[in-house]
Amino acid sequence: MTAPVICIDGPGGSGKGTIAGRLAERLRWHLLDSGALYRLLALAAQKQGVDLADEAALAELAGRLNVRFIPASKEQSADILLDGESASHSIRTEQMGSAASIVAALPAVRAALLQRQRDFRQSPGLIADGRDMGTVVFPDAPLKIFLTASAEERARRRYLQLKQAGVTATLDGLLDEIKQRDKRDSERAVAPLKPAVDAIQLDSTALTIDQVLEQILRQLTTRK
Ligand code: C5P
Repeated sequence: MTAPVICIDGPGGSGKGTIAGRLAERLRWHLLDSGALYRLLALAAQKQGVDLADEAALAELAGRLNVRFIPASKEQSADILLDGESASHSIRTEQMGSAASIVAALPAVRAALLQRQRDFRQSPGLIADGRDMGTVVFPDAPLKIFLTASAEERARRRYLQLKQAGVTATLDGLLDEIKQRDKRDSERAVAPLKPAVDAIQLDSTALTIDQVLEQILRQLTTRK
């Protein structure tokens, strides 16, 4: 029997990453942060001097991307390694998010990363976080959530996160970047950001993380 998958798709800053991590911890399931794969590819391209418009070279790079996701344990916090070096901080900048959305629009890149994402589906189950988890990567998933929040709220959350990390940014600048990335992700020809027909849509603008978690867990129990 194939392992169950809960897909959590939606725009950047909707809370997907946090919710997916908390769910995986709670259910003790595996976690796929698919956005990290596109960010890692953008970082690898930058390091190796590969042009973000060179689709063939990027697809080839995606095929041999040497990444390891290390889950959090009692001894250490979660980490993501690119060629054996920690990349979990360097991939989180807005610049790397934008570069990721440029490489993610290329069909050959998406094709090269498809099986790698499907390989995360292992017993007892998988929480998959991204843009096309429910529409393309795991179309047969038993539970699909499409998590949104207003662009203003997402910019505000990102601003607070950056401020806490000691990074300077302006709210207006972040809002512009978020809107640009939404547009690029929603208007691309392959795997655009859109809810799967069978996805449950949740707006997190006025909800806390715990409230969103509660709603998803309730959906999970009613489907069992
Ligand atoms: O989720 P995150 O912000 O880390 O994703 C970075 C970028 O990677 C997104 O803006 C999107 O363009 C791309 N992405 C994608 N498909 C996914 C996950 C992310 O196209 N499943």
